[in-house]
Amino acid sequence: MGLLELKDVTKAYKRGGRAFNAVNHVGLSVEPGDFISIIGRSGSGKSTLLNMSAGLLHPTEGTVLFEGNDLHRLKDKEISFLRNEKIGYVPQGQSLLSNFTVFDNVCIPWFLFRRGGNTEGRAFTLLEKVGISHLAASYPRELSGGEMRRAAIARSLINEPRLLIADEPTSDLDVETTAEIMRLFSDIAREGTAVLIVTHELDTLNYGNKTYSMDAGNLLPQSA
Ligand SMILES: Nc1ncnc2c1ncn2[C@@H]1O[C@H](COP(=O)(O)OP(=O)(O)O)[C@@H](O)[C@H]1O
Ligand SMILES: [Mg+2]
Repeated sequence: MGLLELKDVTKAYKRGGRAFNAVNHVGLSVEPGDFISIIGRSGSGKSTLLNMSAGLLHPTEGTVLFEGNDLHRLKDKEISFLRNEKIGYVPQGQSLLSNFTVFDNVCIPWFLFRRGGNTEGRAFTLLEKVGISHLAASYPRELSGGEMRRAAIARSLINEPRLLIADEPTSDLDVETTAEIMRLFSDIAREGTAVLIVTHELDTLNYGNKTYSMDAGNLLPQSA
């Protein structure tokens, strides 16, 4: 059994009175340590697929199993807890809370479910790992796009997730920063966390172990 299993997953939307499948009968299996990249044109259903994989969006048809649990049969509270504990999510765009320092942003997922203990050492280690420990006391508005993205990645890892999902984590970053972030994801995967990302850049694909492309809601394995 995989860590994450998508079985015949479909998301139907209506637009201008016409129904269409933003995600069309997709199957996908993610194992611990996998580093999976999904590419595809804008509007092909990539974010919709990630959101269903993270339990943020209900499929119209099909099932999403995480560690064997049908995500969309869990109660809201159960799914929030499972997501907080086991799934790291780096959303598209800026997602840090502007009134909190970088350090506090990273710690927030830990305290959401009133976990006690000392997480400060771990938060600091993660900031070092993503190369921005010198910005721990800064506020998001004082950071560049790449620095904010790194902070969001550190935040997604604070609870030691089993699965890390990132939606275009390198869009609008320069080539060098993109390569650094992709290497960071490779390290994370090597340590056993499954990594599932949507990416634009074809040249970043050599970092992952599996690549798929999405086209009008259909997910296809991409041959090298
Ligand atoms: N809530 C919604 N209602 C109707 N259509 C939607 C909704 N969300 C997304 N879509 C449509 O579904 C398709 C896939 O969107 P999305 O998953 O965001 O694509 P991608 O991430 O690949 O750019 C697009 O055509 C988009 O317009
Ligand atoms: Mg998208």
